Amino acid sequence: MPKPKVLKASRQLILWIVANAGGVGKTTLGIHLGYRLAQLGWNTLLLDLDTNGSLARFCGLDYSLDPQQTTAALFERNFSGDYPIHRPIWGNPKGKFEVCLGGDVMLSVALDLPSRTGREIVLKRAFKKYPLPHDLIILDSPASLDVLSYTALAVATHILIPLPMSVKMSGVDFLLQWIRTEAESLDLDPMPQFLGGVPMRVANNADQQAFSSEIKEVLAQQSIPCFPGVRHSVEFENASNRGRAPLYIYRPGHSACQDFEPLVQALQQQLRHLP
Ligand SMILES: Nc1ncnc2c1ncn2[C@@H]1O[C@H](COP(=O)(O)OP(=O)(O)OP(=O)(O)O)[C@@H](O)[C@H]1O
Ligand SMILES: [Mg+2]
Repeated sequence: MPKPKVLKASRQLILWIVANAGGVGKTTLGIHLGYRLAQLGWNTLLLDLDTNGSLARFCGLDYSLDPQQTTAALFERNFSGDYPIHRPIWGNPKGKFEVCLGGDVMLSVALDLPSRTGREIVLKRAFKKYPLPHDLIILDSPASLDVLSYTALAVATHILIPLPMSVKMSGVDFLLQWIRTEAESLDLDPMPQFLGGVPMRVANNADQQAFSSEIKEVLAQQSIPCFPGVRHSVEFENASNRGRAPLYIYRPGHSACQDFEPLVQALQQQLRHLP
């Protein structure tokens, strides 16, 4: 008897990782959270909306792809639900960690989108019309708040904000305000929920520890949780440069792996209590 087609998980968490600065560690965060949650049994897809192609590089899949083999396919006017899903070369825990790759072809998408009606909800429509089976979809977007960011905002159920140690609090305020204002303009129902902020690349010195605490206070004033930071470690860079991004693989047992655990726990809690 033919197997029934896998349908959408009845409950799905769509996490948008967003920052209004480059090189903060968005892709690093997405890969580590996706990998770990897959290890824990959650069916996870990391979807790259960025033009820089770093997800492909981090996954050891750094070759030129046909646009149909990238996230750009989802933005085609005639997209028919054939999701271009890939698996990192370094493995796929429990068969539950998959990726959709971005890259420079996303630039054409960003140039084409503004002239389309319903541009902000192109991704939302694709997910609705052709449901994915994943429990968790993580969206990795470019550092600029452009038209692709609107497509992520429109479909996100949760938002996570990685914060660099060089961040200006006025920049964080701007980002939060932008998210709230645009979510209202898009009339999102329900509104995406802030999972929280997370200080990134925190060095082991008193200044940066103090700055981390300051960030926490500022977010608390806006009722946004702040997770303990992810430390700075050159091993993250070594791992990604070698196309073996998750530290869980490149340096299993490295203490920095633990830095993701509070986020992993928070995500698991949300996944278990999705409406
Ligand atoms: N905690 C960390 N400690 C040291 N290096 C890190 C850390 N996190 C990320 N990096 C390194 O910093 C670089 C940028 O990280 P990443 O690509 O994840 O950032 P990003 O925010 O996705 O950047 P972009 O805006 O270009 O997409 C990478 O080389 C990565 O390996
Ligand atoms: Mg990135």
